[in-house]
Amino acid sequence: MNVLNYESVALDDDNGALIILDQTKLPCEINFLHLKDIKEIWQAIYKLQVRGAPAIGIAAAFALYLAVKNFDVDDFETFFARLHEAKEYLNSSRPTAVNLSWALNRMEKTAELNRDKKISEIKILLRDEAVKIKAEDSEMCRKIGEYGLTLIKNGDGILTHCNAGQLATAKYGTALAPIHLGRERGMNFHVYCDETRPLLQGARLTTFELLADGVDTTLICDNMASQIMKNGWVNAVFVGADRIAANGDSCNKIGTSGLAVLAKFYKIPFYVFAPTSSIDMNIKNGAEIVIEQRNENEITELFYKQRTAPENVKVYNPAFDVAENELITGIITEHGIARPPYSSSLKKIFEKD
Ligand code: MRU
Repeated sequence: MNVLNYESVALDDDNGALIILDQTKLPCEINFLHLKDIKEIWQAIYKLQVRGAPAIGIAAAFALYLAVKNFDVDDFETFFARLHEAKEYLNSSRPTAVNLSWALNRMEKTAELNRDKKISEIKILLRDEAVKIKAEDSEMCRKIGEYGLTLIKNGDGILTHCNAGQLATAKYGTALAPIHLGRERGMNFHVYCDETRPLLQGARLTTFELLADGVDTTLICDNMASQIMKNGWVNAVFVGADRIAANGDSCNKIGTSGLAVLAKFYKIPFYVFAPTSSIDMNIKNGAEIVIEQRNENEITELFYKQRTAPENVKVYNPAFDVAENELITGIITEHGIARPPYSSSLKKIFEKD
């Protein structure tokens, strides 16, 4: 059993189901969910059974296709109104990762551009578009990995946060793509994984994924990052992103901005890895990003046999934070590495897109 042989998100068109590797059960259990109902898929995204910005986008695209496949209507206006309603519903499952609305908008546009075709034909085009979104993600991640590999050498120490690996994408991952690609070429790196409180994506997912690839992997608590940087063990910090603003401010799992500040202090390069589907050129800076607030029980109870905090204590549980652009050494996309100033370098990347 090697988790890298499984897909995080897949379409089972014959049975009208979305297949998800349930990430809340990892690493103890490899369990697949077969979801047919759009409400079940909404819940799976909300509960992080499928998670990571690109995987969320892919899951939502398949979900929208599965929803419209069952629409028993002949006229485009009714079909499109119902598609739009399903799209808005799926889009409300999580607010921060822009890949969700990016993928759903692509699907809606596909229907709109083909309004003159028969509904049965539009349904097939929507399936093809969702399949394409997934295939493109895999290709984008491979390219990101290639660019990322130019930033490190064999044996380097890399610190990463949360899980921006294969589990969060169609293949390879974003921040972990250079590590996986390097492994394919016989390279190895020392990867330090922040456990990533409170949902432990680093401890549960990143370590599992890296060990499966034979990577030299060390788990640390989030508050140990400064110590390992001081020890001289970290050559670079690699993180993913859920939404990057036009000025390069990068939003990622809570704890990322603290790492960026530490990296600056210790003069360690801090790199953000993301496909262009995670870049939101419609927002000027990170202040415009909606940060998801999650349930307090994730902090007080979820991964403990017994509650760890007193009843009635106030809890603050933001799921993401923003690393300001001046803390970021480079943003690695499928079109190359953007360097500061990001307002112009990201713009150039979109001109290539
Ligand atoms: O709450 P999550 O687990 O969905 O958060 C995921 C992250 O923050 C990832 O780093 C980001 O989505 C990039 S995944 C390639």
